[in-house]
Amino acid sequence: MGRLVIVSNRVGSSLSANDGGLATALLTALERRESVWFGWSGEIVDEPPGPTRIRRDGNLTRMLVDLERSDYDGYYLGFANRTLWPIFHYRVNLAEYGREHWATYQRVNEMFAERLASVLKPDDVVWVHDYHMIPLGAALRRLGVDNLLGFFLHIPFPAPEVLTTLPVHEALVRSLFAYELVGFQTGKDLQAFQDYVQREAGGRAGDDGTMNAFGTSVRAGSYPIGIDPAVVAAHAARAASTRQAARLRDSLPGRRLIIGVDRLDYTKGLVHRFAALERLLETHPQYRRAIVALQIASPSREDVPEYQQLRAELDARIGRINGRFGDPDHLPVRYVNRRFRQETLFGFYRASRVAMVTPLRDGMNLVAKEFVAAQDPEDPGVLVLSRFAGAARELNDALIVNPFDVDEIAEAVDRALDMPIEERRARYAPLMSRLEQYDVHAWREDFLNALQRSGRAPRRALRWEPYERVA
Ligand code: ADP
Ligand code: F6P
Repeated sequence: MGRLVIVSNRVGSSLSANDGGLATALLTALERRESVWFGWSGEIVDEPPGPTRIRRDGNLTRMLVDLERSDYDGYYLGFANRTLWPIFHYRVNLAEYGREHWATYQRVNEMFAERLASVLKPDDVVWVHDYHMIPLGAALRRLGVDNLLGFFLHIPFPAPEVLTTLPVHEALVRSLFAYELVGFQTGKDLQAFQDYVQREAGGRAGDDGTMNAFGTSVRAGSYPIGIDPAVVAAHAARAASTRQAARLRDSLPGRRLIIGVDRLDYTKGLVHRFAALERLLETHPQYRRAIVALQIASPSREDVPEYQQLRAELDARIGRINGRFGDPDHLPVRYVNRRFRQETLFGFYRASRVAMVTPLRDGMNLVAKEFVAAQDPEDPGVLVLSRFAGAARELNDALIVNPFDVDEIAEAVDRALDMPIEERRARYAPLMSRLEQYDVHAWREDFLNALQRSGRAPRRALRWEPYERVA
């Protein structure tokens, strides 16, 4: 068996210095096989980047490439995070499109492809991840690479009406056809991709998930990413007796904890979430001294203006809530902008009565799954979950809310705080068993088996026509 070569913009360093859902899932999924993880080092340099850096760590070899500042601006801050991210999350009003960013995005993908092609072995299976790297497969094909290539999108795939607001939608979708298999988080994302191919590209659906268009074909399927619930549960149980968890519990005498854990991102619905908490405290004065809402929000993409605006807005909103409803000895909201070790977070989840996971749109949302797995089965907390998180398709025994409806969120939190233990247990059991049935290892095996089954198209490289590039 050849190596598994993972490619993603963000390369996970360790579970204790977490970089979002992609890194969490892959670090958990990768532990078993001889693997390479290729991507950006996280370093920005002022000169053209030096050679690829190689870091061996057991059976995992990380291959890391620095980005030159202008590439970081155009590829990461620009096209990936100011164009694709908002459009794929249905925020077309926030999207900024510029041809120069599109050109840089392609050029950086070509640079990654050249470096990767030079270290690939014939039997390697290449698995590319997320929106930063969509054209990587096509760039590899142009270089003559005919290894098995799979692609997984961690974020939503938008409906065609939304995707077509992107001026280069056709070139982008066409480049997905350079892979043997394209995976999405949910059936809804897969459906949106199929709709696009049929309606916009004049393609057709074949048997067993094959889509035919652009004179070629690709297999497509949905593979909802998971966690390792047994590991989360074990860590959470242990973490509950650590000093940090004890300090948190001791700081809450007679009060119930409501937790939120998110990257500080406008897709996470934080403004609506705090409006809901404010509404709850307005309409239910009995909660003013009876709850603490702990929001852990780690700063993310701080060079993107929309993220800076969000941070300022949250600072003001949370200050206002505490000013309105706080007492000298009690503040209803605790707001913390930093990262924690995963185990510590799991201990916090276990100490919480309610989790608010209310993104306006999210590919999956692993926090929702981690929260469930971290609960004490005898005394579980309640998950309040947005219907627009991919996780809601599987976790429908949570309290499902529309994250745009502030009153509905407030009512759900009220219901969760008051929920009898029998109902909490009755909801927890099916949620946990779903997480166990399809965990992160099943996700990985399922995708890789499907990729293997999709078979290597001989000399596929020669059939791949390059798309027209912006100068
Ligand atoms: P996204 O990929 O958009 O960031 P997810 O909810 O899918 O969202 O994944 C976030 C991951 O990052 C989870 O595994 C979560 O535990 C972790 N995480 C989020 N915030 C922090 C934090 N402040 N410290 C440590 N880990 C965090
Ligand atoms: O899929 C979610 C995701 O966008 C990952 O691709 C990414 O690594 C993570 O969020 C964190 O974002 P960033 O890499 O921009 O810090």
